[in-house]
Amino acid sequence: MKHNWKPGTMIYPLPAVLVSCGNAPEEYNIFTVAWTGTLCTNPPMCYISVRPERHSYPILKKNREFVINLTTANMAYATDWCGVRSGKDYNKFEEMKLTPGQATIVQAPTVEESPVCIECRVKEIIPLGSHDMFIAEVVNVLADDNYLDKETGKFELSDSNPLVYVHGEYFGIGEKIGHFGWSVRKKKKK
Ligand SMILES: Cc1cc2nc3c(=O)[nH]c(=O)nc-3n(C[C@H](O)[C@H](O)[C@H](O)COP(=O)(O)O)c2cc1C
Repeated sequence: MKHNWKPGTMIYPLPAVLVSCGNAPEEYNIFTVAWTGTLCTNPPMCYISVRPERHSYPILKKNREFVINLTTANMAYATDWCGVRSGKDYNKFEEMKLTPGQATIVQAPTVEESPVCIECRVKEIIPLGSHDMFIAEVVNVLADDNYLDKETGKFELSDSNPLVYVHGEYFGIGEKIGHFGWSVRKKKKK
């Protein structure tokens, strides 16, 4: 038996990412975002949805550039903290001992501890209600060599133990179950 709930946001799991913004060190800030995702493969487009009352909001709106930093289980504490404390009261990079790094294209810091930093340029801002959706083009991706398998050349993101957000709780990833297309792949004869 299932119960009817009032309409709400129940698409889980999601990543909880750290979004970094600011075009000068005095303006640098990071905050946690779960309302994020991919919109298009080519051109690569993604979104973040942000409440206008966030300290980061006017920074994003003014600069129209930001970085989505993927998070790991090791970064869970900092990811939660950056989502419950505001940049108007704290320098979150300093408080969480996270390192601001240089993005290649955009005017915004990266979070060096992150395995993948996705540089985004805002294309459109759509007010939706509680949140405004920032639709952005991905203009560069910085991927940590530590997760690059030198023999196969494959980027093994799962080795970073990505942080997973499920209905208010954080998890690491579990066991590998399969890979893309594995369900229809012919089994090799022995
Ligand atoms: C797991 C998690 C996910 C969050 N997702 C969002 C989000 O998608 N959009 C948003 O505006 N705020 C989100 N928040 C809240 C902001 O991160 C939080 O209000 C933060 O303090 C804003 O920082 P700022 O004031 O320095 O910009 C989330 C917080 C947590 C802990």
